[in-house]
Amino acid sequence: MQTHRWLRTPEGTAPRISYGADYNPDQWPREVWDEDVRLMKEAGVDVVSIAIFSWAKLQPAPGEWDFAWLDDVIDLLHESGIGVDLATATASPPPWLTIAHPEVLPVTADGTVLSQGGRQHWRPTSPVFRRYALELVTKLAERYADHPAIVAWHVNNELGCHNAYDYSDDAARAFRAWLAERYGTVDGLNDAWGTAFWAQRYGSFDEVLPPRVAASFPNPTQQLDFLRFSSDALTDHLVAEREILNRITPDVPVTTNFMIVGDTRHADYAKMAREIDFVSNDHYVTVDRDELAFSAAITSGVARHRPWFLMEHSTSAVNWQPVNRPKRQGELARDSLTHVAHGADAVCFFQWRQSAAGAEKYHSAMVPHAGEDSRLFRDVVALGSALRRLDAVAGSDRAQAEVAILFDWESWWGAELDSHPTELLRYRREALEWWTALTDAGVRVDVVPADADLAGYRLVVAPVLYSVPAPLREALEAFVAGGGHLVATYFSGIVDENDHVWLGGYPGALRELLGVRVEEFRPLWKDEKVALSNGAAGTIWSEPVDVTADGVEVLASYEHEELGAAVTRRTVGDGSATYVSTRLGTDGLAALVPDVLAHAGVHPELPEALRGRVELVSRTGANGRFDFYINRGDDEVRLPEGDYLLGGAALPPRGVAVARR
Ligand code: GAL
Repeated sequence: MQTHRWLRTPEGTAPRISYGADYNPDQWPREVWDEDVRLMKEAGVDVVSIAIFSWAKLQPAPGEWDFAWLDDVIDLLHESGIGVDLATATASPPPWLTIAHPEVLPVTADGTVLSQGGRQHWRPTSPVFRRYALELVTKLAERYADHPAIVAWHVNNELGCHNAYDYSDDAARAFRAWLAERYGTVDGLNDAWGTAFWAQRYGSFDEVLPPRVAASFPNPTQQLDFLRFSSDALTDHLVAEREILNRITPDVPVTTNFMIVGDTRHADYAKMAREIDFVSNDHYVTVDRDELAFSAAITSGVARHRPWFLMEHSTSAVNWQPVNRPKRQGELARDSLTHVAHGADAVCFFQWRQSAAGAEKYHSAMVPHAGEDSRLFRDVVALGSALRRLDAVAGSDRAQAEVAILFDWESWWGAELDSHPTELLRYRREALEWWTALTDAGVRVDVVPADADLAGYRLVVAPVLYSVPAPLREALEAFVAGGGHLVATYFSGIVDENDHVWLGGYPGALRELLGVRVEEFRPLWKDEKVALSNGAAGTIWSEPVDVTADGVEVLASYEHEELGAAVTRRTVGDGSATYVSTRLGTDGLAALVPDVLAHAGVHPELPEALRGRVELVSRTGANGRFDFYINRGDDEVRLPEGDYLLGGAALPPRGVAVARR
């Protein structure tokens, strides 16, 4: 990240947890806007993101501009004390642009050209698109440079949401340039990609293509580099817009909304976060409550635990799942406050007023179709006043935990490439299962990128840390040598940065540190289970693990004639390195985790009665330390007595209480 810079607000504005939404006044007649600001004030809204999808209205034809309506909206919001997170409006190009320049449309791996008519139909590497987009950004920045309503710039929208992987000729050209920069010479590329295989050797960079649909498995390093390149291409677009904004409006911070949620994995957000003033994220509940908390913790990790901006989530149902159910009573507030617990200093929704037309008319909003006389709007108003009680928390960092999970996009991408021992492995699911098991044990857990400083952690868990370049191996060795406790799972340490296997036996780069050696992977069939001596069962994966170092203890063995040790622990001075050679799942981890924590000297912070039922997250800053207790279940829970800013010792189902320590 650049130096952390938060919203630009008038001098003397007291820090607060901001509240608001994406606001699309261009979908409504002028008279609705007055009602909007009246209701925004009633709800306590102080920030809205506008113009995200307004390009066609702002520039109805080439060279023709219409800012009058936007001037009015911004003035109206400003008069009402509502800050504007102004979008650069480049997310979705107008029809005239793609009709005049069909060469900006993205192309899929099988050569299909994506049409206009939806949104985000542009190639991240198109020079033509870039020219038009930057012209728009320049116009907006010049026009609103001095407008006091603007608290931040919102670059584009969810970069890559629908157009992350483009296989066009523009992409091919940009990919070659990216590869030339990375490898210097085509021999360098041939070595890295291992092209002495299936006659893939390249004579020059000009022969290289994106991994378009091929007759068989494409080259894995080519695939991996294409994923890296595609993420960098989005970042490049972000930087191009940001440079204009920084030049014209140096005082206004710049952000863009990430998609740290579920299986969305098209961008390396730890890397992209370096290019913005503060991290923003969009999160929609897809799996369960723990996935939300886990995503929020990842977001805090990429924000280096400084405050971040929850740019979008939903008040209730979305419109893009197979079946879209409303949230249950309490979930609107609990979901929002879980993000605040993990460091969000702004809670915003998609969107302010539910659309009457278009593909998102059945997506919930702060003002539903039913209008202000609705349970949903009353809940929105109630959340607004709950946030006011947390203003003392604003500006504080998420307090460092003693336990961290390493979350690494390189390993995520690499571990799930095709032509592997199994296609059943899911990187993020494994990490989430550890998150749940550790949270169940009553400890606080950070989720940090692979380049994070590990000092200060007692326990670091590396689930499926597939890709371990030499510097990461050294960092993990140093962590253990310094008395830290490491846990690595199956399919960790396997390859270097070029996806080349570390030879001599698995787990490759971590073999010596863990004191074990594996000659062959033994993945399990889809519904197959393998029993362990501690009563747990492994799925997905198993391995014949040989212990190769002194001081390695076997914590659990496979109850299978071809297999021996399943979970091992090597003691190294005051530290240790534990290896888990199968997927234990949350049940199996529940049996292991308390022992792992105890061995690492990590004591649960939650009393026994609350473990498994409550998540504890802390923030710390100038106003002290704040403990967030989040009820993960549907029963009331009794918390310790304390000085509660929000809620109290009786924590209702799905409730959140915040105590000052
Ligand atoms: C996001 C997007 C919003 C809206 C929302 C619906 O992907 O940024 O504009 O479409 O999803 O859930």
